[in-house]
Amino acid sequence: MNTQTPFIRVSNLNYQYPDGTHALWDINLEIYEGEFIAFIGQNGSGKTTLSKCLNGLFKPTSGDVIVEDLNSKTSSIVQMVRRVGYVFQNPDHQLFNNNCWDEIAYGPRNIQLPEEQVKERVEEAAQVVGLPERYFSEHPFFLSKGLRQRVAIASILALRPKLIIVDEPTTGQDARQSFEIMDFLKDLNENHGHIIVIITHDMPIVAAYARRVVAMGQGRILADGPTAEVFKQTELLAQTFLEPPQITQLAQRVQDLGYDPGTLTVESMVAQHIALHASQDNP
Ligand SMILES: Nc1ncnc2c1ncn2[C@@H]1O[C@H](COP(=O)(O)OP(=O)(O)OP(=O)(O)O)[C@@H](O)[C@H]1O
Ligand SMILES: [Mg+2]
Repeated sequence: MNTQTPFIRVSNLNYQYPDGTHALWDINLEIYEGEFIAFIGQNGSGKTTLSKCLNGLFKPTSGDVIVEDLNSKTSSIVQMVRRVGYVFQNPDHQLFNNNCWDEIAYGPRNIQLPEEQVKERVEEAAQVVGLPERYFSEHPFFLSKGLRQRVAIASILALRPKLIIVDEPTTGQDARQSFEIMDFLKDLNENHGHIIVIITHDMPIVAAYARRVVAMGQGRILADGPTAEVFKQTELLAQTFLEPPQITQLAQRVQDLGYDPGTLTVESMVAQHIALHASQDNP
C-alpha cells in the first residue's frame, strides 16, 4: 500500500466520444510522485484517450480526474496542462511554429508569462532536452525526427508540468535513437523530478525502463502493478495480444530450473545463471 497522497487520482472514469464510442469504462488509477509508468495494450484499447483525460484535454463523461487540488471537470485546460503535459504520438502533429524558439515559447506565452520569463523557460527547456542554440531559429521540420521530438518535449517542459506523458516515444526510430530518447526520459524522471508515463507497444523498452505497467484492453484496465509482476500474467497479456520480452519468456519456460519468471533483462538472466551454477558447483 502506498501511503503518499497521489499526484493524480482517477475514480470511476468513463469517457464517450461525441459519436457515442464508449472508449473508457470505469477506470480507477492513482499516480504518485517519482513513478515511471508504461501504458500498454492493443490498438484502440484506450491508452491515448486516457492520457487526454489525464491532462484535461478531454473531460470525463462520468467519474473524476483529480490532479493535485484540481478536478479536471471544473478546471481550465491551462491549469491542467501546467501540471500534466502530453506529447503527441507524432510530434509533427504538435509542431506548428516557424522556428524552434517560438515553438517552445508558445506555451509560456499562451499562459501570458512576461517575455523575460518566457526566455528563461525556453532556455531551460532547450537545455534539458539538449537542443543546441544553433537550432533555435531553424524551422522544426528541417530537423531530424529525434530532434523534432526533443523540440516537442521541450515545448511541453516549458510549462513545467510535474507529469509528462509521451505517446509512442520510440515508434519509427532505430534502436540507438530509441535508447537515446528513453535515457533522456529516465534522466527527467531521476534527476529533474518528473513523473513519466510512456505509451508503447515495445515490450523490451517497457522492461528496461518502466517500473510500473498499466495494461489496457477494450477501454478497461486489465492489470496494474510492478513491471515484473504484470509480465508474469502471461494469459492476461495474451488477451491484449502482447507478449513479454523474449528474455522474460525464456526465464518463464525454464523457471522450474530456478529462474525468476519476472526476469526483465539479459543481465539479470546471466546473473541468475551464474548464481545457480555456483550453487551447483559448491553444494
Ligand atoms: N475522435 C474519436 N472519435 C470516436 N472514437 C474515437 C476517437 N478517437 C479514438 N476513438 C475510439 O476510442 C477507442 C480508444 O482509442 P484510443 O485512440 O484511445 O486507443 P489507443 O489505445 O491509444 O490505440 P493505439 O495503440 O492505436 O494508439 C477506440 O475504439 C477508437 O476507435
Ligand atoms: Mg494511441
